[in-house]
Amino acid sequence: MFRNHLLPLCLVGGLFTAGSSFAQVVTIPVETQHNALVLQTDADKNLKMVYFGAKLSNTAEYARIQKMYNQKDDSGILNSAYTPSGSANLAEPAITVTHANGDKSLSLVYVSHEVTKVADDISLLTVTLKDPVYNFEVKLYYKTYFKEDVTEQWSVIKHGEKGEVVLNKFASANLNLKGSGFWLKQYHGNWAEEMRPEEAKLTHGIKTIDSKLGTRANLYEPSMFAVSIDKPATEDEGKVLLGALEWSGNFKIDFELDVSDNLRLIAGINNAAAEYHLKPNEEFATPALVYTYSDQGKGDASRKLQRWARKYKIVDGEGSRLTLLNNWESTYFDFNETKLAELLKDTKKLGVDLFLLDDGWFANKYPRNGDHAGLGDWQENKQKLPDGISWLVKEAQNNGVKFGIWIEPEMVNPKSELYEKHPDWVIKQPNRPEKYFRNQLVLDLTNPKVQDFVFGIVDNLFTKNPDLAYIKWDCNAVIYNAYSAYLKKDQSHLYTDYVRGLYKVLERVRAKYPKVPLMLCSGGGGRVDYGALKYFTEFWPSDNTDPLERVFIQWEYSYFYPAITSSNHVTDWGKQPLKFRTDVAMMGKLGFDIVISKLSEQDLDYVHGALKNYDNLKEAIWHGDQYRLQSPWDNDAASIMYVDNAKAKAVMFNYLVNNRYGTGTLVPIRLKGLDPQKKYQVKEINLYPGTKSPIENDLVLTGNFLMNVGVNPHVSSGRTSVVLELDEVK
Ligand code: DGJ
Repeated sequence: MFRNHLLPLCLVGGLFTAGSSFAQVVTIPVETQHNALVLQTDADKNLKMVYFGAKLSNTAEYARIQKMYNQKDDSGILNSAYTPSGSANLAEPAITVTHANGDKSLSLVYVSHEVTKVADDISLLTVTLKDPVYNFEVKLYYKTYFKEDVTEQWSVIKHGEKGEVVLNKFASANLNLKGSGFWLKQYHGNWAEEMRPEEAKLTHGIKTIDSKLGTRANLYEPSMFAVSIDKPATEDEGKVLLGALEWSGNFKIDFELDVSDNLRLIAGINNAAAEYHLKPNEEFATPALVYTYSDQGKGDASRKLQRWARKYKIVDGEGSRLTLLNNWESTYFDFNETKLAELLKDTKKLGVDLFLLDDGWFANKYPRNGDHAGLGDWQENKQKLPDGISWLVKEAQNNGVKFGIWIEPEMVNPKSELYEKHPDWVIKQPNRPEKYFRNQLVLDLTNPKVQDFVFGIVDNLFTKNPDLAYIKWDCNAVIYNAYSAYLKKDQSHLYTDYVRGLYKVLERVRAKYPKVPLMLCSGGGGRVDYGALKYFTEFWPSDNTDPLERVFIQWEYSYFYPAITSSNHVTDWGKQPLKFRTDVAMMGKLGFDIVISKLSEQDLDYVHGALKNYDNLKEAIWHGDQYRLQSPWDNDAASIMYVDNAKAKAVMFNYLVNNRYGTGTLVPIRLKGLDPQKKYQVKEINLYPGTKSPIENDLVLTGNFLMNVGVNPHVSSGRTSVVLELDEVK
């Protein structure tokens, strides 16, 4: 049965001869504004992915693509849209199962497909595949965001066998790309070293990026990647696929350059120690792989992903954000009401919207005076806060600012009342010595009682303090000794059901508190993914706030996440002056974590000016398009700009990243994304008090000039960061 409710997801039919039988060839183009992914059945009803690239102008021609290829394929299903294992397949499978009778073979053939229109811009294609021998079904989902050129792809697995089926592997998506070569850009890192890129040509065999850390899963390697096709894509040229798994736990993405020289990409939850027992008629839904494609380079692809994220994924992506003062680096655990009252005054003096109280405000039997105790005991510490959070919320209001608070609700210190009361709520092997990460263990979120507890932490805070305006949700431990007292015989479900439990809690939080700003933090960027960001307004990219480091870290995150989500705080890390630190933090969501009372009058003047400029430019930074102009990796100065949607206002940030003699911007930097016909006034802003700009007053240039010749921000060792504002002149 074919049900097609709308184009551009449509069916192109045709007759195909195979041996003595005639089979209907079904061609299913999955189109977005500029791109197409084409699925097609063969004579044996195997569903294959036969095309991925620019959309064709004549839809009927999609049916002809596959016949143009003479590549060898002994199995006949090398480019399967969802590769089963144990039957014809000879390559890495997307799915491996053990049937109820112990047989491990699976074959999946096309049964039907349908397209539904979810919204103006959004369509959902569902393709049903079944095993001809077993009562086993996989549905493939392709949710397309037409204007943004973004697809979310996942699968749902179900069976009607007599007894449990074991899912040994269960990918979300299986893509097949054709090209004359493929280059993978991937990331690695660690605490304070997030988002270090590496790009290399893929050779035959399988390259895997994955995580087995459980929680904080992206600490060593996130699931974000870019694959260039035919040649390495640059910022503005070349074919490139950007993708990431929407999952906050263990993941595995295989890139297999196969025997036919095509690239097979298989992405999903990591199946390591995670086989899943599926009861009859129970559905196993995999998380989505989100991806976009551009034949105009990584910059274009990233803007598509950013637009999609703002419009459809992150909470309040098209809304506003609060500037803030955080106390983590200025006090660590050492504070009391008097100190905090001063910091609230400082928040006002600084001129930001909110004060964020970090770690250390809770626990009494084992006070949270360091990171070795108290986690799990979410009652205000009576010594530090005798009048409780509510007093602080009121005091903030008296100062005309809002109040936000830090929690780390998923974790526990062994030295805590929570651990004493509920040792069975903690993930740990009953027969092995405990192993800690930052002196803590992870709570077992597969257990509904633990889910209630974690939800209760947030709910209690808001119920008792309805004016609480912000939460920073931290997560600092990985899962060691993976064992759940709750799961009993299904221990291999732990990694998957942990994340599902976490999402259940976050669903409840968002159902009750739909818009309140939540920062996703995981000792830095250990958990930045669109599975989690669906519930958050912003994330903490790294504890490394040295602004020189941040230029690189923020640069790389920006390929996948919009600036409005990137919490950038001005701190005392690094040797750069306050101006450099603030200019770097302004390229995302601005915050501060410094001692305001120690700022000189000039510093404070500078910050006040910068905050005013930020207010004026935030529309472009938060909701406009971002263009990377000059990479910090290859140049003395990095340069990045944001243009508002009307192309009337833009901001260009420039940072010196090389301290060698004579470095700076010797030639102009070409801008991007402006209207060539418009005239723009170019002026330097964020000038430190007492300094003058070498950029001439009343400089008015056309978009045409700015994009072909460019402008020189005159970055040098004496001007290490330069911010230029561009305003349309009518
Ligand atoms: C790790 C976070 O990344 C920091 O910003 C801070 O909140 C500490 N945890 C607090 O323990």
